[in-house]
Amino acid sequence: MHELLPKRTQEYRERARDIAERVVRPIAAELDRTGQYPWPVVAALREAGLSGLWIPEEYGGAGAGVLDLCVVVEELSRACGGVGVAYAVNALGSFPIILGGTEEQKRRWLPPIAAGEKLIAFGLSEKASGSDAGSLQTRAFLDGDDYVLDGAKKWNTNGGVAELYTIYASTRPDRGSRGISAIVVEKGTRGFRIGKREDLMGIRCVPVHELHFEGCRVPAANLLGGVEGKGFGNAMATLDRARPGVAAQALGLAQGALDWALRYTSERQQFGQSVMSFQSTQFRLADMAIEIEAARQLVYTAARVIDAALPGASKYAAMSKVFASDLAMRVTTDAVQMFGGYGYCRDYPIEKYMRDAKITQIYEGANQIQRLVIGRALTKEAAGLSSKLEVEVEHFPEPLALAEEPA
Ligand code: CAA
Repeated sequence: MHELLPKRTQEYRERARDIAERVVRPIAAELDRTGQYPWPVVAALREAGLSGLWIPEEYGGAGAGVLDLCVVVEELSRACGGVGVAYAVNALGSFPIILGGTEEQKRRWLPPIAAGEKLIAFGLSEKASGSDAGSLQTRAFLDGDDYVLDGAKKWNTNGGVAELYTIYASTRPDRGSRGISAIVVEKGTRGFRIGKREDLMGIRCVPVHELHFEGCRVPAANLLGGVEGKGFGNAMATLDRARPGVAAQALGLAQGALDWALRYTSERQQFGQSVMSFQSTQFRLADMAIEIEAARQLVYTAARVIDAALPGASKYAAMSKVFASDLAMRVTTDAVQMFGGYGYCRDYPIEKYMRDAKITQIYEGANQIQRLVIGRALTKEAAGLSSKLEVEVEHFPEPLALAEEPA
């Protein structure tokens, strides 16, 4: 029920849907085949004023919220999951600046992202530190007016096409995650090299690269917030804001797969009737529709919790990502099944949805990590709950004596 969304969000959704249908859908299969970056979509988003939606107005953005971001990502992903993440990853890369940058840094880096002139990427993961992000090995030490970076990043979405990279590096290795700092590195900086491009199962139009830093000198003014050791908290707070975007990508993929399944099963004739007229098909389609709507409400709620700065953002963001991405995997797999042999074939659009959906269970924190985040939040809630329950238990009446069993 998109009509229940605020008017402004509905308008963003209409603009995103128009781009998804007019620009994205016609080229989605070609982008998947060639791995080309969706530059025509970047241009269309810029023209539609959607480029830096989430960036505050004073830095050239629309000052929109995470809910608006999610709705746009959902609509783009309905047509192509790769395009959805190509857009959303700019929010992942710029949230660290919005959350932790100095005024000068925000004025310097955010306006070109808001205008759609520059893309940005987020560099946290490394070969040996994925889920355990705090164990990263990239080092940065202060030398005169520069930080010197050494190390390598892995799984950098938008790698190569981005002009700006928010990089997490340890400035104090003896302090563990409290020694991690965030530093913005500009493309073209000496000692910064874009490495191998990953050959991915899905989201194939978005380049995912290794990044290499070899004696890379970056002005000390690029240290986010101007203070060392704030990087890990900044990365975690960023992921809290960005994970509903992954959930929205998964949601869009699930909705897009359902759209195709409805169309195919209503047109495909077997045993003298449409496949949709079989009750087993209708029941599965009904379950898909129920679960997608439930996921949508959870994704929007997580986004609203963040936009309203309510407590519980980490938990809601993680819940939305787990629920929507697991659902997207189920729905897209079942949609492939409904297409039968054609579903397994690249001539038809549906197998791409399944390939694109898989990554949403893995990146921006594998779903096992999301459950860990939710579990930790519940543990804290449980601690608060047991003291309250004790009070109530005291007032609980004595248990009634059991009536004698009749002989
Ligand atoms: N917000 C702010 N601060 C937070 C926080 C949050 N949500 N969560 C933790 N912190 C702070 C803690 O308060 C603590 O601070 P102090 O040291 O000052 O006390 C510090 O961070 C360490 O906290 P933990 O002990 O809880 O950290 P941990 O080592 O146990 O790790 C984790 C927690 C949740 C497992 C975390 O490592 C994590 O999220 N891992 C997954 C990383 C991830 O999502 N990577 C994906 C990167 S993006 C990508 O996939 C590529 C792409 O381009 C799309």
